[in-house]
Amino acid sequence: MSRTASDVELGLRQQLNTLVRLYVGQIVKSVTETEARTLEPHFQRFYRWVQQKVRESQSEEIPHEDITSLEADLSSTGVDGLMLSRIGHDILPIMRGQKQPLQLLLKDKLLFDYYPNNIHTSPCFPQVEIYVRHSLETAKQKLNILELGAGTGGTTRAAFRAIGEYAKQRGSVADRVHYTYTDISAGFFKEAKARFKDFASVMTFQKLDLEALPSTQNFDVGTYDLIIASQCLHATKNMTRTMAHARELLRPGGKVVMVEGTREALDISFIFGTLPGWWLGEEETRQLTPCLDVPQWDEVLRATGFNGTELVVPNCDSEELHTLSVIVSTAV
Ligand SMILES: C[S@@+](CC[C@H](N)C(=O)[O-])C[C@H]1O[C@@H](n2cnc3c(N)ncnc32)[C@H](O)[C@@H]1O
Repeated sequence: MSRTASDVELGLRQQLNTLVRLYVGQIVKSVTETEARTLEPHFQRFYRWVQQKVRESQSEEIPHEDITSLEADLSSTGVDGLMLSRIGHDILPIMRGQKQPLQLLLKDKLLFDYYPNNIHTSPCFPQVEIYVRHSLETAKQKLNILELGAGTGGTTRAAFRAIGEYAKQRGSVADRVHYTYTDISAGFFKEAKARFKDFASVMTFQKLDLEALPSTQNFDVGTYDLIIASQCLHATKNMTRTMAHARELLRPGGKVVMVEGTREALDISFIFGTLPGWWLGEEETRQLTPCLDVPQWDEVLRATGFNGTELVVPNCDSEELHTLSVIVSTAV
């Protein structure tokens, strides 16, 4: 079920957008086209995105806000403002290679707090939880779940809320579910094992790179009932190839439930656009954003052995204001 954004949330989003508009204005004033050509390749793409945002905002009225006071206001409201102002405040040295954005994102473990609690992603977790619960209750046999790009486990937590509730009712779930936790980096597994230790008996941890066929990475392909993929698919070079890899893992009739950006969130693009991984997309349509809109997802899914966007739940019920969506599709 979709949800209505509160006035407070809409106000916050508006302030975040204003701050991004101010930052991009500042960037084009300070970085010339000539200097932009000397930047690292991913910052050259970031700069093209910045220019596009400046062009788009020429017709928009930007409130005469002062960057410093808006940064101060937003930093006290939560992870969204804190993260945006942390990156924005240093955006020029970041683009010039004098400061490392990843270090800033990770400082005080802010990134770990940001993933599960930011304004865009947090409304999607209850949807994933409901879907996992529904899958457990309707499964005719043991449910074989695999999570792609599980990373710090923000979405895994939602899945295990559902599994935990189900376990409370049944006493045990060992005969009802198995969960394979994967990521391109095995470095996440130690912390995840500790975090989900109560479910150790139903979990396996295994490295999986979405850029390569799972059959070449020691996976039992065609055996999984449910794939969970939250904000990791866009971090790959070619979405058709990536989804074909995901499809290889599923049995016919298996489902993928994904959380992905389906309409641009300016603050997310600005923050993560400073990282090379944001700019891996090779397709024509992914030059200014790695994300796909819903019709593009439908096309990719149909081309890769799925039935298209069977179910789409945006993170708020307004077409114009939603940013991320939970999408479900079935392997045909
Ligand atoms: C934005 S994080 C999302 C983490 C997690 N899904 C969550 O919801 O908290 C993106 C994750 O995708 C992983 N990733 C990036 N490229 C990948 C690839 N080629 N194959 C598998 N995982 C990848 C990263 O290591 C990272 O953990």
